[in-house]
Amino acid sequence: MERSVAWDDGAIITLDQRALPFDKRTMRLETVDDVIDAISVLAIRGAPAIGVAGALGVALAARLHSTGNKVDMPTVQARARDIAGARPTAVNLAWGVRRALSRLPDGADAVLNEALLMLDEDEQTNRAASQRAAEFVRGLFPARPLRILTHCNTGRLATVAWGTALGTIRELAAAGQVGEVTVGETRPLLQGARLTAWELAEEGIPHRLCVDSAGPAAIAAGMVDCVIVGADRITANGDVANKIGTYSLAVAARRSGVPFVVVAPESTVDTRMRSGSDIPVEERAAEEVTGYGGLRTAPLETLAFNPAFDVTPADLVTAIVTQSRTLLPADPAERVAARIKVVEDFPTPGVRFHDLGSVYADAVLVRDVAAAMSRAFAGQFDCVMARESRGIGAVVAQEACVPLLLARKPGKLPGEVVSVDYGLEYGSDSLEIQPDGLRAGAEVLIVDDVLATGGTLEAATRLAEHCGARVSGLAVIVEIDTLGGRARLEPHEVFAVHHVA
Ligand code: MRU
Repeated sequence: MERSVAWDDGAIITLDQRALPFDKRTMRLETVDDVIDAISVLAIRGAPAIGVAGALGVALAARLHSTGNKVDMPTVQARARDIAGARPTAVNLAWGVRRALSRLPDGADAVLNEALLMLDEDEQTNRAASQRAAEFVRGLFPARPLRILTHCNTGRLATVAWGTALGTIRELAAAGQVGEVTVGETRPLLQGARLTAWELAEEGIPHRLCVDSAGPAAIAAGMVDCVIVGADRITANGDVANKIGTYSLAVAARRSGVPFVVVAPESTVDTRMRSGSDIPVEERAAEEVTGYGGLRTAPLETLAFNPAFDVTPADLVTAIVTQSRTLLPADPAERVAARIKVVEDFPTPGVRFHDLGSVYADAVLVRDVAAAMSRAFAGQFDCVMARESRGIGAVVAQEACVPLLLARKPGKLPGEVVSVDYGLEYGSDSLEIQPDGLRAGAEVLIVDDVLATGGTLEAATRLAEHCGARVSGLAVIVEIDTLGGRARLEPHEVFAVHHVA
């Protein structure tokens, strides 16, 4: 496949993406300033493409600042910093620069070889990520031509070749699985209208263009089966920075139950950043917004807000697919797994305590966990009974819009109480309820945060049944499988959001 970035005898050769689709103008970048400028003005753009261009820029700097075998290291390092600073959001640029720079002690040729290796790797990486993503999407929608919505340009122009999200669409189209692609025009620089539409036309893939604000409307109107986009930076918790307009698509997709899939190389994953709020978002010139086609459209005194990217929180992302893995950031099980802390020998020696404190600190996760619990027994319960357990029972009851009956420690409830004693993984305890909170024949979902030996939940089950209620099932955030608590609760059905050994 034709490459969007290449190296030719001491220069970077690239298409000027600003001139596309009608003018196929080639640029020859011979100085580091040429490279910085081409990246800054978006002549070269797209996270993977600027990563490789940045690496080649370092190679150029190393060649230009060498005498014989001797490289002027401080100057090359300073120029590398300038290149990395050309655009702040896509981590691939800093990654490409860093990777090329790591070979500087071995001389200018070593830097160039590393950059050329990255150039060669890029297409293979994109093809592998696209195949994996296409497989994931096929799993969601067996055997039917899909209506896909994409945003910005993530194709062969945004990478060295093939593309990420658009590579996935290519892959699906080759298997006859694409009905139509809706492309957001991508204001203000129109990467969707100028570049993605051009690539789709080049491939003969049916597509239509919409203004960015029509994308969420198309999703809401049931015109989209799946949203597939690229990324500029993915943080450790799965938040995704991508072209401005991506977030509103993700919100609309979640609201309509449409999968939202992100395809990117591993070099886009930045585990040094904890979450999306750490990502520097590039803000571009006001003129991109206050004018159109070179003419001023807004009043002269009007200011602009022109971020080039936005951040989609992990809980809206169905899957992040790279060349080597498929992550499911919106899956509450994975998010619980990432937050849970194991404390050894607490509260007594030999006990491994699963601390869910940081699960409860994530309000969105608590809501999603509760929704998963409620969904697991949808239509089967008309009351939630729970221990206090930091309030998870209340959130499930709210989610299902049913009453909550709290089972509490002895001495907390006035009036008539029904009480039960039970053994714990460590020690023993009692639970009490006010029986008038539970009508005979009620269908009860029992909720707790951790299922260990099953002692507490078994006691809660006994309490509910003693009062004449029917236990519809038991739902917990975490089940410790090796302690075998589930067997003790038979024949009741147990749902755990996350399992640990
Ligand atoms: O400002 P751009 O055009 O460089 O923004 C590009 C995007 O946001 C792409 O979606 C992203 O870089 C992924 S490209 C495979």
